[in-house]
Amino acid sequence: MGISNVTTDSVRERVDIEEVVNDYVQLKRKGQNLWACCPFHQEKSPSFSVSPAKQIYKCFGCGKAGDPIQFIMDIEGVGFTEAIRHLAQKYGIDIIEDEHQASPEAVQAYNEKESLYIALSFARDEFVRNLQSPEGKSIGLSYFKERGFTPAVIEKFDLGYSMDAWDTLLEKAKTGGFSEEALQKAGLILEREQQSGKFYDRFRGRVMFTIHNLGGKPIAFGARTLKKDKNQPKYINSPETAVYHKSDVLYGIYQAKQAIRQQENCYLVEGYTDVISMHLAGIENVVASSGTSLTENQIKLIKRFSDQVTVLYDGDAAGIKASLRGIDMLLEGGLNVKAVVFPDGEDPDSYAQKVGADAFQLYLKEKAQDFISFKIGIVKQEGQFDPISKAAAVRQVVQSISKIPDPILRTLYIKESSRLLEIEEELILAELNKIFLKDANRPRPQEKEPPSGTSFPEDLLPTAETTPSKTIGQQLLRQERETMRLLINYGFEKVSEELRVCDYLIEETNELKFETPVFIRIFTAYKSALLEGILPDADYFIKTSDPEIKQEVIHMITQKYELSALWEKRHQIFTIMEADDLAKTVYFGILRLKKGVVKKMIQELMGKMREASEKDITDLQGVYMELKKYQVEIDKQLGTVISN
Ligand code: CTP
Ligand code: MN
Repeated sequence: MGISNVTTDSVRERVDIEEVVNDYVQLKRKGQNLWACCPFHQEKSPSFSVSPAKQIYKCFGCGKAGDPIQFIMDIEGVGFTEAIRHLAQKYGIDIIEDEHQASPEAVQAYNEKESLYIALSFARDEFVRNLQSPEGKSIGLSYFKERGFTPAVIEKFDLGYSMDAWDTLLEKAKTGGFSEEALQKAGLILEREQQSGKFYDRFRGRVMFTIHNLGGKPIAFGARTLKKDKNQPKYINSPETAVYHKSDVLYGIYQAKQAIRQQENCYLVEGYTDVISMHLAGIENVVASSGTSLTENQIKLIKRFSDQVTVLYDGDAAGIKASLRGIDMLLEGGLNVKAVVFPDGEDPDSYAQKVGADAFQLYLKEKAQDFISFKIGIVKQEGQFDPISKAAAVRQVVQSISKIPDPILRTLYIKESSRLLEIEEELILAELNKIFLKDANRPRPQEKEPPSGTSFPEDLLPTAETTPSKTIGQQLLRQERETMRLLINYGFEKVSEELRVCDYLIEETNELKFETPVFIRIFTAYKSALLEGILPDADYFIKTSDPEIKQEVIHMITQKYELSALWEKRHQIFTIMEADDLAKTVYFGILRLKKGVVKKMIQELMGKMREASEKDITDLQGVYMELKKYQVEIDKQLGTVISN
């Protein structure tokens, strides 16, 4: 279930990219566009641009781009519907919920989740209010005060208290109109015996830590006992529910997300109280894994806000050894990892309380080490570095390096560890290759694709040949992209008296099939729009709901700015040529596309020929000759020499 199209449309009509972005970064006008340092990656000089005319943003550093709705999705880390809600709220647009679009099951699931959220919010309010009751004051509030928690931080984290009785919450909630079923599904009450129909409160006589989702809604609770009783678990937590999946959640993310982005780093701690003490010490970019080992989804969650994690370890060796696996997982998730170890017996909470905010902040700054020195430090025996522990250190470090998806980063870390371990890079590399060979079957870590469009400038000049190192598939992708770019940027301009660029491109690509799904979709949409009498320009595509199309089109129309920044000289040649002689540009564009297609066909044909029977081979050879002839023809027209 979602929001009605009416609401989405009003939001789309009303939003202004400048107003939306300005809530997060300070924009400065330079020419037609507005500029700022990119909120999505670390940089010193602004490469994040906003075009009020086109109503889009684009970062030339990290490649993030989109419309105002996309911006909210990116910066708040929310989905489309949430982004619309956010913007509707900002502009005071009434949100009309829409039940008609979704299936009955989806509506039911939505309603069920909604009712859990409402019940959990109600419970949160009760727990918070309980802190002001006589019992809550003397037990809960005084405990928090003892730990140095201020009223501000108590409010910020929705800290509360559950009364020391069997059914305080249950009764209140029933009076408030909540069903036992909903309360049970929210994990707030338990049944005395199976099927007995008699319920009691899950949380009783404990201080309450509210767990929020990214949007700040309460989704679960952690309840700490105040009794010394060893038979009582220290924490009782909400069970898994429709709205709480423990492995997807990080405690404190809602309160931290903005700071994580600003500081470009996320501190990772173990417990609720560590998070809160760090806020008290003025550090807000901190989340907790709630005592369990990290999951892939939690890592992805961090990655949405920052590429840098600093893991804070309690000062006991056993704990550190146990959590080394976490480091490798973080590396595998493409994050840069640092670590800070606290003095023996201290955790972030106790140490922050002990030394105070300033000394604590200084400690973090001074003691943060990258994971290599951290791992070496663990293996190193009391300052001595004997051959055996050195070999162990190498293995440890190489193990971690092998997890890093980015090959450039891997190289940097190989250098770094060579320096720290005082052994040659080649030896580390050899060790690394051993690991890669060992799991030859395991897929290599995914390498990041460069943002689309960045590799493209050389291709713009008709005489420029594509680099031989690129695979045929990559070349074709680029040529397809270039064709789309011409179509979208110049579709309605004339190449001759009666022929528009779009007509020419459609005709010329008639018997070609695009390979890349997103371009197929753009092309199909383009043609059907034309049939309906719409002239689809870039704007038309930016407004579609297909995020891939949006991204591609934004890259296409911003290409020139990129060129002017990076390719000053070529850009001049390029603009003169492209604008002055559109016909020629389009003509060469199509030729290069055809060249790519033919090359691919030849490659595939050769594969077939290798496996063909004697009987078929003559036929295939005939096709081969035809294709070669065609290729020669294209090359001649392109004015390039025949390549293989
Ligand atoms: N935890 C839990 N259940 C327990 C013990 C711990 O869920 N029985 C989780 C909690 O999320 C807790 C975290 O593990 O925050 C870390 O545990 P611990 O360091 O013992 O708790 P703290 O939050 O640091 O609490 P305190 O400082 O009050 O000891
Ligand atoms: Mn603790």
